[in-house]
Amino acid sequence: MALRLGDIAPNFKAQTSMGEIDFYDYLGSSWGVLFSHPADYTPVCTTELGKTAHLKEEFDRRNVKALAVSVDNLDRHEGWIKDINETQNTTVNFPIIADSNREVATLYDMIHPNASATTTVRSLFIIGPDKAVKLMITYPASTGRNFVEVLRVIDSLQLTAQHSVATPADWKQGEDVIVVPAVSTEDAIKKFPKGVRVVKPYLRYTPQP
Ligand code: BEZ
Repeated sequence: MALRLGDIAPNFKAQTSMGEIDFYDYLGSSWGVLFSHPADYTPVCTTELGKTAHLKEEFDRRNVKALAVSVDNLDRHEGWIKDINETQNTTVNFPIIADSNREVATLYDMIHPNASATTTVRSLFIIGPDKAVKLMITYPASTGRNFVEVLRVIDSLQLTAQHSVATPADWKQGEDVIVVPAVSTEDAIKKFPKGVRVVKPYLRYTPQP
C-alpha cells in the first residue's frame, strides 16, 4: 500500500554513488529528503540534482540529508554525475541510489504506471528524525521541482514540530505564524509573549517564536 503522511518511512539497503548504505543509518538523527527522478542523462533531472548540490549548505544548516533515487546502474550514475558537475557548475555531494531492480522505487511507490510503466516519477519525501513521513510531493517528468520551496517546507515542519503554530500561505522564515486552533486565545497570550493578533476567533497570528 502507498505511504501516507505520518507513516514510518521503510528502511532499505542500497548501492549508491557513495557506497552501500542502510537508509536509517545514513539518516541517523537527521531529517531526510528522499527524491526520485525518471532516469540518468535526462535534462530536467540534471538541473534538479545540480540545484540540490548547490543548496547543500542550506540542507546542512537544517540538519537534513538528501538522497536521490534513479533506476539506472552505478556506471551510468558515475558518468552522469560528471556531466552534472560540469553543466551545473557544482559537485554532487549526496548519494544517488542505483535502483536498477526498482526495489526502492517500489517500496516508496515511485512508479506510476499510467504516467510511465518503467521510469519513476518525481516523488519527494521529507522524513523526520522519528523516521515518519512529514511531506510527500509528486511531480511529472516534465516539471522540475522547486528546491527552495522544499527548504521552505522544512523550515515550516521544523518550526511547527516545536511550537503550537502553523504557517500561512507563502510563509517564509521570520514572518508571522498562525496559532493552531487547539490553543485558546487565552492560552495563546500566555504561550506567545511576543503577542497575539486576533483577526477572527479562528485566525490568530503571532510573531515567529
Ligand atoms: C527530464 O528529466 O529531463 C525528463 C525526463 C522525462 C521526460 C521529460 C523530461
